[in-house]
Amino acid sequence: MREQLAALREEGLAEVASAQNGEQLAAVEVALLGRSGRLTALLKGVGRLAAEERPLIGKLANEVKAALSQSLAAKQEELAAAELAQDLAGVGLDPTLPGPPAPFGAVHPVMQAARDLEDHFSSLGYVIWDGPEVESEANNFDALNIPADHPARESHDTIWMAEDTGPERFCLRTHTSPVQVRALRELGAPLRVVAPGRVFRQEAQDATHEHSFHQMEGLVVDKGVGVPHMLHAMNSLLEGVFGRKLETRLRPGFFPFVEPGFELDARCPFCKAGCRVCKGTRWIELMPGGLVHPHVLRSAGVNPNEYSGFAFGLGLSRIAMLRSNIDDIRWMMSGDLRFLRQFPS
Ligand code: DAH
Repeated sequence: MREQLAALREEGLAEVASAQNGEQLAAVEVALLGRSGRLTALLKGVGRLAAEERPLIGKLANEVKAALSQSLAAKQEELAAAELAQDLAGVGLDPTLPGPPAPFGAVHPVMQAARDLEDHFSSLGYVIWDGPEVESEANNFDALNIPADHPARESHDTIWMAEDTGPERFCLRTHTSPVQVRALRELGAPLRVVAPGRVFRQEAQDATHEHSFHQMEGLVVDKGVGVPHMLHAMNSLLEGVFGRKLETRLRPGFFPFVEPGFELDARCPFCKAGCRVCKGTRWIELMPGGLVHPHVLRSAGVNPNEYSGFAFGLGLSRIAMLRSNIDDIRWMMSGDLRFLRQFPS
């Protein structure tokens, strides 16, 4: 029986080695080790052996079985790997090549402008402050000295929230100016702060009007602050944005939350004959501002006899458009990738 077991081992290993695919290998396994396979058949003769020989033969039979099982498992792995490689070759796939590059996003032109301005103002000691886009009527209008009958409060200008939110009315903020009051209440005077953010208006849309756009509010409150401080801040800001000094001019302007109020115009930085940006006037309206109205200081809990301040409102969308030569504001919030891809940061 020893010789028979040795022969089974040799022949079995040879059969395993010559299997060409998984199916053949499975058949070899059944023929060798299956319930009616060769090993089982051989072992049926153990009963006829002398008693002292049986354990030896049993041990030998186990060794043969282990050797065959091991070689079957190894062969199965080898065949599976070969089949996979063949499949991959079939579809022309090379698993060692790197995958397709992941698409990179870019920073939106408005965010690029906001970041540059934030850097600029941070370097001047301003804090960057955030306010909510859903704002109370009290902060958006009342605290800013905008009277109850002001047309801006009409629903054709302001997007109001549904009225079931309680006694207080809420709207989508129409400007970033309420952050003046929020920051001042929170941080107190003296204070230097800028607040970039999105604002909303009920607008008939065209190339210069959009229902959602971005502003950046500036506020400085301290003792003895006046118009010259405001002018310096505005001019240095423009230098920060456009990278060079621009000639500016100040016109009177009316906003309920500043007194006196101004409009700052800058020499058109793009001007050539027939300039589209300034429409040939050579001036562009850049930012309104003024000295903070005592009502606003009082609303924020600051004593107007002790402190004064200036505020300005920067059209962030407009600045971004000027910087990046964008001629229609409707592109800005369009989410159109063909547009956005033109401004890699
Ligand atoms: N909040 C005004 C608007 O959206 C802009 C503005 C004007 C802001 C004068 C100011 C300011 O801070 O002093 O039209």
